[in-house]
Amino acid sequence: MANLIKTFKQDHQNILTTLEKIKNIGTDYPSMSSALKEIKEAFLAHMSLEDAEFYVNLRRKVQLSQDLIRTLDFLIKNLEDLKISSLIFFEKYTSQEADFMEKEFASDFHNFYEKIRKRIELEENQLFPLFGKYIKKL
Ligand SMILES: [Fe+2]
Repeated sequence: MANLIKTFKQDHQNILTTLEKIKNIGTDYPSMSSALKEIKEAFLAHMSLEDAEFYVNLRRKVQLSQDLIRTLDFLIKNLEDLKISSLIFFEKYTSQEADFMEKEFASDFHNFYEKIRKRIELEENQLFPLFGKYIKKL
């Protein structure tokens, strides 16, 4: 279980590296679409693992203060929202008829990237230190 945080951080690094790569592809939309297809599963698997194995398990199995329980409830909800917007983003830009890419991709991608970057920052700087110590109780 203690290796979970290490796994999450490694995933984050891979996700950020891939997103940076996609950002630098420029206007080659077919390459972008296939790069997105490649990260989609790894990305969704990461969110499910972090959600189910860490936050939901903590909520269920560990005795926590009311404030930490409330924090976890917000987090779980926030992760669900992130999953929904990620699924919409991936569906939009990995589907067959992505002709609208040129018009909307840049701003959609920017928003998506920012959301992911902020979430990763929050996890690594605050959530892992805050909840990491309870991992051995899972
Ligand atoms: Fe994460």
